[in-house]
This record gives sequence, structure tokens and C-alpha cells, in this order.
Amino acid sequence: MSLIKLSCMTSLLFITTFAAAASNRSTDKPAPPPPEALHEQLTQISQDPARLSAAIQRGQKDASVCRHCHGVGGNSVLPEVPNLASQNSGYLLEQMNKFVLGQRKSSPFMEGMIKALAPDERIDIALFLSQQPVAPKPADSRVQSTAGKNLYAKLCVSCHGASGTGTQKIPRVAGQQGPYLEASLKRYRAGSGERIDPMMAAYTRNLKDADIRSLAAYLSSMQP
Ligand code: HEC
Ligand code: HEC
Repeated sequence: MSLIKLSCMTSLLFITTFAAAASNRSTDKPAPPPPEALHEQLTQISQDPARLSAAIQRGQKDASVCRHCHGVGGNSVLPEVPNLASQNSGYLLEQMNKFVLGQRKSSPFMEGMIKALAPDERIDIALFLSQQPVAPKPADSRVQSTAGKNLYAKLCVSCHGASGTGTQKIPRVAGQQGPYLEASLKRYRAGSGERIDPMMAAYTRNLKDADIRSLAAYLSSMQP
């Protein structure tokens, strides 16, 4: 067994213990605020420099456990695990809310960890990660795809933008991990409930596996 694998497993053991302890704690929590209220709170904090910097500091602490999978500062080195560095804060919060509400499915680990976070902690973590710089990828890991570039220009650019950086609620896809992109696009297309979004379902419906491979190669090669 490789050292990396071994250290991942040790991390996972630690995380299971953390998630189990945290979910026991969560049973006596009051009813959670609706997602819209959390987005409003995130917007207000973003507009106030003093509150923002306090939130980022708290977020850095709360997100320390996430780096076992998502990497330091949210720069993932695992192909199936998404980068969270510089991801848009509204999108990050939305996805955490979706995990909590069962509108997005992941491993029981991930879901358990996100469910264990208080709503305020989700906001702080989203703000912290959105401010983390993206570590540049080595040039030789960036496979170009002309087919992917053309498909992106035709179908995706209107929402995700020419630079692939999205908007507050639309995810940054530039420089995302290729295998993760491929799996995500297939999930939207399959409509199996792991990822539910009417827009993405519509835009992936007619894509063939080869199109998805080209798109994933192009997006992961985009320098964010
Ligand atoms: C055990 C490994 C692991 C840990 C620890 C972990 N994650 Fe994840 N996370 C994943 C994987 C794998 C995915 C991809 C899920 C999928 O779509 O299948 C993911 C997806 C996400 C996403 C969605 C990203 C996107 O681009 O849509 C967010 C947000 C997220 N994680 C936040 C967190 C936070 C915050 C923490 C720490 C509190 C955390 N994760 C800890 C493995 C992990
Ligand atoms: C009408 C706007 C729109 C269009 C067009 C669109 N997207 Fe999206 N995309 C979104 C939204 C909104 C989300 C977040 C959905 C969710 O909550 O799961 C998303 C999510 C994604 C994700 C998940 C990112 C992550 O971090 O997990 C990928 C990958 C993606 N889109 C790629 C594409 C590609 C490739 C195309 C073109 C084939 C495309 N999108 C077209 C709006 C759009």
C-alpha cells in the first residue's frame, strides 16, 4: 500500500470519528434557517470588510478537516475530489445546503461532515474557500481538447463565462479536476438524483460520452 493511500485512510478514520461525534451533537439543534436566509446572510457579510475578515478566519479553522480530501486551501490533488479554492461563495453555500437537504448525494462521509456543520459555519467556510488562490497545475497535466473548446463555446459559455469562472451562484469550472467533471456531467445527464439541476439536465441531455470526455479535458485544462 502506498504511503499516500495509508495517510488517506488514517485521515478517513479520524474523519469518521469526527462525523459520528458531530452527528450525535446535532440531534438537539433547533430547526435550520431556510437556504434563502443563509444566502442573504452571506451577501451581507461579504459587503462588510470587518465581518468578512472575521468570517474568513473562522472559516479557515472550520475547514481544516476538509483539507484531508480537498487539499490545502481547497486545491485538490485527488482526481475524483473537486477543487474548492476560488470557487464562488454562493455556489459553495448552495451545494452544502443541497447536501444537508438531501438534494445532492455523496458518500456518507461527506454528507455526514457537512450535516455536522452549523449554518453559520457553512457560510464562513464558503467565504474562506472562495478567497483561496488556485495552485497552478503542471503544464504536462493539461490536455488540450479542441472538440471540448467548441462544445463549450456553443453550449456552456452563456452561463459559465468565457473564462470558466461562473458567477456568484454558477460554479467556476476552469481548472476543475477532469475525472470529477466527467462524473458530475454524467450525473446531471442520468438524472439519477445524485445531482439535480434542471438547467444542467437540459444542457447535458444530448451529450455523448465522448462529448463529456472532451468537455472535461478542455475545462480542466483552462487556466483559472
Ligand atoms: C472523505 C473525503 C472528503 C472530505 C473530508 C470532505 N469532502 Fe467535500 N467532497 C468530497 C467528494 C468526493 C466530493 C464530490 C462529491 C460528488 O459529487 O460525488 C466533495 C464535494 C464537495 C463539495 C461540492 C463541490 C462542487 O464543486 O460542487 C463541497 C462544497 C464540499 N465537498 C465541501 C466540503 C467541506 C466544507 C468539507 C469539510 C467540512 C469537506 N467537503 C470534506 C470528499 C470529501
Ligand atoms: C443556463 C445556465 C447553464 C448552462 C448553459 C450550463 N450550466 Fe453548468 N451549471 C449551471 C448551474 C446553475 C450549476 C449548478 C447546479 C447545481 O446546483 O448542481 C452548474 C453546474 C455545472 C457543473 C458542476 C460543477 C461542480 O463544481 O460540481 C459542471 C461541471 C457544469 N455545470 C458544466 C457545464 C457544461 C460543460 C455546460 C455545457 C455543456 C454547462 N455547464 C452549461 C448553469 C449552467
